[in-house]
Amino acid sequence: MKLSMVGTGYVGLTTGALFADRGNQVTCVDTNSDLVKQLCEGNIHIFEPGLENIVQRNVSNGNLNFTTDIGSAVRDSNVIFLAVGTPSNGDGSFSLEYLKQAAKDIGKELNGTTDFKVVVGKSTVPQGTSETVLKIINEEVEDAVNWAYVSNPETLAEGTAVKDFEKPSRIIIGTDSDEAFLVMKELYHPFNIQQDRIMRGSPADAELAKLFSNAALATRIAMVNEFARIADTVPGADMDTVRKMVCEDPRIGYQFMFPSPGYGGSCFPKDVQGLVARAKQEGYEPLLLNNVHRSNELHKHYLGEKVSQLLTMDRPKVGVWGVTFKPNTDDMREAASIPIITGLINRGVEVIVYDPQDNKARDIFGDRVEFAKEKYEAVEDTDALILLTEWKEFDSPDFNKLREKMNGNQLFDLRNRWLPQAANRVGFSYHGVGRNYSLGNSR
Ligand SMILES: NC(=O)c1ccc[n+]([C@@H]2O[C@H](COP(=O)([O-])OP(=O)(O)OC[C@H]3O[C@@H](n4cnc5c(N)ncnc54)[C@H](O)[C@@H]3O)[C@@H](O)[C@H]2O)c1
Repeated sequence: MKLSMVGTGYVGLTTGALFADRGNQVTCVDTNSDLVKQLCEGNIHIFEPGLENIVQRNVSNGNLNFTTDIGSAVRDSNVIFLAVGTPSNGDGSFSLEYLKQAAKDIGKELNGTTDFKVVVGKSTVPQGTSETVLKIINEEVEDAVNWAYVSNPETLAEGTAVKDFEKPSRIIIGTDSDEAFLVMKELYHPFNIQQDRIMRGSPADAELAKLFSNAALATRIAMVNEFARIADTVPGADMDTVRKMVCEDPRIGYQFMFPSPGYGGSCFPKDVQGLVARAKQEGYEPLLLNNVHRSNELHKHYLGEKVSQLLTMDRPKVGVWGVTFKPNTDDMREAASIPIITGLINRGVEVIVYDPQDNKARDIFGDRVEFAKEKYEAVEDTDALILLTEWKEFDSPDFNKLREKMNGNQLFDLRNRWLPQAANRVGFSYHGVGRNYSLGNSR
């Protein structure tokens, strides 16, 4: 099939490259001409494991190309994906500015075409947006144009995007058109052979399913972090032990039940707030969801304060391992590291960061922090070390080496990855999230 991706960010590029890899002819469109130029040269602007090879392979074999010209891309395609960003407005509501513009551009370009076209909404949007997109396109297209709309929200996660796309847990297709449904079924067939993962509903069902998933996961994270704070008030409690005791219950399970510095990224914060904002516009205030984002933000603040309070020395110096919002990505959008590190800097703490993918972090922190080239360089003469992102290479630190390199003995494991006893044995004072281990506690 011939496809176009309007919007070539994390989602558009990954989706485009993986459909191209299955033999489709894909054109990725973006308004950012620098980005398009860079992609045409075979350089990708994001770090996503396995993606670069797939992009390069499909650029070389001619299945994947990039352009700023939406016109020819739309006219030549059977299926046109809307994969532009839907960022948050300052008040928490979704900004649909890019989506509306792209829908308008697509509508205009559909005029004069005679073959059946499917326009697919992939961006995450507030409930009810399909109606808006349909209306915008219908206002632009002449009656003769044969087209239908599908809402097909993206379910991949950054860091595991290639794997998620190739083996999706579900493929959500929201459409009122049987003809469009069949086109989508054919397109996704290579990813649906072993087991039927396609789930059909209306466009409204599809939009809500995406929002519900993200809200449910964000709520679990916020809830487990609230519980970790409760554990912090109970002498002798270790949230890691409590978590395992609870997660063995098959009704609960282990996924998204890990204490952390709070969720971040380009999805959960904006999607939860946008969902709530739209519900409020429609006259309903969801009490629980309304507070999930607030709880998450307060948690980051709480951890930042906890670290600061233990840095009582004059002009403290700390090393930070990991700053991206999660491992295996370079994405810094809404990363918990931003408020935590900014808070430390504002209190006069000197910060040295090591992250294996620090390119976007450098743009954010600039010269307010020092960047180290490897993990032990980041702890040289520091009073404390903070683990913020659980990249694999931080899993088994050499605690003796850390003690030799560091001046102080404070370890803040904000991902609960390390064995407190192993750290304390060599003289560290270990602080996890909801884990009451300090120097001398050998339990
Ligand atoms: N990143 C994720 O993990 C993820 C996962 C699932 C869903 N989503 C959703 O998918 C959508 C895209 O997310 P992303 O992370 O890929 O965003 P992104 O910001 O990385 O990319 C969006 C791209 O769209 C381009 N763009 C904007 N207006 C355009 C227009 N009129 N025509 C052509 N290009 C245009 C921008 O230049 C940018 O390159 C969002 O709604 C997001 O919520 C993201």
